[in-house]
Amino acid sequence: MSENPTNKNNFSNNKTEKNQQQNLPKHTDESTTGHQWDGISEYNIGAPRWWLIVWIICIIWGVGYWFFYPAIPVPNGNTTGSLKWSKYSQLDEAQGIVSSKQAKYLEKISKLTLSEIQQDKNLLEFALNGGKSAFQQNCSACHGRGAQGYKGYPNLNDDDWLWGGKLEDIYTTLLYGIRSGHDKARVNQMPAFGLDKVLKKDEINATIDYVLSLSNKAKHNAKGEAIFKANCVACHGNEGKGNRQLGAPNLTDAIWLYGQKREDLYQTIYFARNGVMPFWEKRLDDNTIKQLTLYVHSLGGGEQ
Ligand code: HEC
Ligand code: HEC
Repeated sequence: MSENPTNKNNFSNNKTEKNQQQNLPKHTDESTTGHQWDGISEYNIGAPRWWLIVWIICIIWGVGYWFFYPAIPVPNGNTTGSLKWSKYSQLDEAQGIVSSKQAKYLEKISKLTLSEIQQDKNLLEFALNGGKSAFQQNCSACHGRGAQGYKGYPNLNDDDWLWGGKLEDIYTTLLYGIRSGHDKARVNQMPAFGLDKVLKKDEINATIDYVLSLSNKAKHNAKGEAIFKANCVACHGNEGKGNRQLGAPNLTDAIWLYGQKREDLYQTIYFARNGVMPFWEKRLDDNTIKQLTLYVHSLGGGEQ
């Protein structure tokens, strides 16, 4: 435009305006606002009807929102709105729905026996989920997140049980614990044969040979066998296969709670271990203990 001297900075140049307007499609003087910038004039066209309607609806909606919902900040918070809605009330409501759904299951669980719960597929699934999360919270510190156990803390996934793997056995173990101090706890102490001076060092070593020979990890030891028959069979059984009534482990298999090295066995026989499992009666509600029982039972070693 600077090439055209007549146009330069002359916004109201009539000739230009006319030229401009001649180029416009059907619009006349009235159809522009009369403003011009650099020879560009502005149409005077109303907003489309649909747009106007949407705009007005938005205004009404906005005012309505102020009225019904918390919207306007005031000192110490905000207006509450006539619906009294808040994120917290929404959360409460959602939790209310969840707990009323749970309540139905929980009520069933408290009424039914463990094996009855096992028959009901949905109920069992609910119980297993509950049991799993209670296990993570209360048991995994000792038994591991996957219940795989550690030295001294039994693996609960296998079918090697100290005190039994039926539902009732597990339930009793959980309720009263093992050497837990509870009146009804599973007790039975293996004597500390070395500490109590029942067996001498070489006698213990001979017994270790005999015990290891039961799982073919050492040669048979006659002296050890005699000592075993005299001191150990009361709990571990004639063939060393253990006794669940007494929580005495099977010594003929490949599963060792306290390790299978000679040193481990020496420690066990010299000092005795007598692991402690806490009781859960009154610490957890009965419903949770039932769910935990079903969960542990489901891990792979559960017995009928
Ligand atoms: C403080 C550690 C500790 C905690 C926590 C613990 N346990 Fe144990 N649990 C043990 C020990 C130790 C034993 C083995 C006791 C023994 O030598 O007889 C055991 C044994 C068991 C047994 C018996 C296994 C068998 O072979 O008969 C079961 C079942 C069991 N625990 C389940 C649980 C569950 C379920 C929880 C959580 C509610 C739990 N434990 C929490 C330490 C613990
Ligand atoms: C009064 C019962 C009792 C007597 C007697 C007894 N034990 Fe035990 N023994 C147990 C119990 C219970 C356990 C496992 C629980 C624990 O100690 O935590 C156990 C555990 C063991 C273990 C550990 C097994 C493992 O999986 O790590 C060995 C080994 C063992 N006993 C050997 C012997 C020998 C050898 C004798 C005889 C010299 C003997 N026991 C006598 C009750 C007994």
